[in-house]
Amino acid sequence: MIVSVHQAVKLLKDQKLVAIPTETVYGLAGLADSNLAVGQIYKVKNRPSDNPLICHFDGLQMLQKYIPAIPDFVQILLQKLTPGPISFLLKIPANSALSPATGGRSTVVIRIPNHPIALEIIRQVGKPLAAPSANTSGKFSPTSAQMVQDDIGLKIAGIVDGGQSQIGLESTIVDCTDQNQIRILRQGAVGLAEIDQILANLTPKIKILDYSKNQTKQIVPGTKYKHYAPKTPLSEVQNTSQIDLSTPIAILGSTQKLSELKTWLESQPNSSKIELIDLGQNLSQISHNLYQKLFELDQKNVTKAYLISEDYGQNSLAKALQDKLERILEK
Ligand code: TXA
Ligand code: MG
Repeated sequence: MIVSVHQAVKLLKDQKLVAIPTETVYGLAGLADSNLAVGQIYKVKNRPSDNPLICHFDGLQMLQKYIPAIPDFVQILLQKLTPGPISFLLKIPANSALSPATGGRSTVVIRIPNHPIALEIIRQVGKPLAAPSANTSGKFSPTSAQMVQDDIGLKIAGIVDGGQSQIGLESTIVDCTDQNQIRILRQGAVGLAEIDQILANLTPKIKILDYSKNQTKQIVPGTKYKHYAPKTPLSEVQNTSQIDLSTPIAILGSTQKLSELKTWLESQPNSSKIELIDLGQNLSQISHNLYQKLFELDQKNVTKAYLISEDYGQNSLAKALQDKLERILEK
């Protein structure tokens, strides 16, 4: 059920769950300091109990109330990069009010999302909100209210519709629990280059290490579970000779890649049965659209899908997209 910001605030204060829009993906929000709300989040998502929840704040002031000793280099990054698509793994005191969300750990992942609706809801609730992505565990994250509705809509008190998530991929997670180094645990739209540039003049110098590939299972429990895959098997192909046309299929690709298929398609007797799914014209559009298009793919009557391979380049968003695709694609 779609609810207003006003209704969402009331429900959240009442320890109910509301899906909220953020610039990355939709989050399933509940009071971070409430065992009742947090317990419901695990239940609704069918989330393994050893996988702690990201806590969302409306700004530095609220953050400082809950995390008294934020290191200087983290303060700098917070000032430069938030609100925005980056989350920080920080140490918290043993008796922290955030314990329900962290499962009693001595660390917490925090984020200040760059979405006016999310910020307004947190501000009005007056407390941090635990909000993992608003999908059943194992599925890809939702980037629209419709996707949330289709998956967990009947199990939660409401959804605030904020349109399609602008970025479309989950936030970068950086481990800042060590004074001497920052480890990138999950690659999102902010990357090593941006962080490095901001901290370049700091002495002593802080090392920035990319751990996003495979060394994070022990640190970020969420990365050890299978993620993101659509129900329809999706594999990457370099060219059309790798496509099997004997069953109903879908082909996904950038606008450009799909238009290059035109002549080949016209020569195929079954071409009218092929579903073409246009991911967009450029990197930011493709990232923005990816999960929405996978959602649409699963609603089509096809047995197999092919993604036309593409070079997305080397910037942070390209790396984030590539990372997600590696988890989505059939090996
Ligand atoms: O963009 C995002 O970050 C979205 C939006 C809604 O903010 N949220 C999101 O949450 O992607 P989730 O739960 O799907 O992913 C958060 C990851 C999980 O892999 C979890 O294991 C890790 O963060 N995490 C959370 N708290 C942690 C902690 N205290 N220590 C280690 N890892 C933690
Ligand atoms: Mg998730």
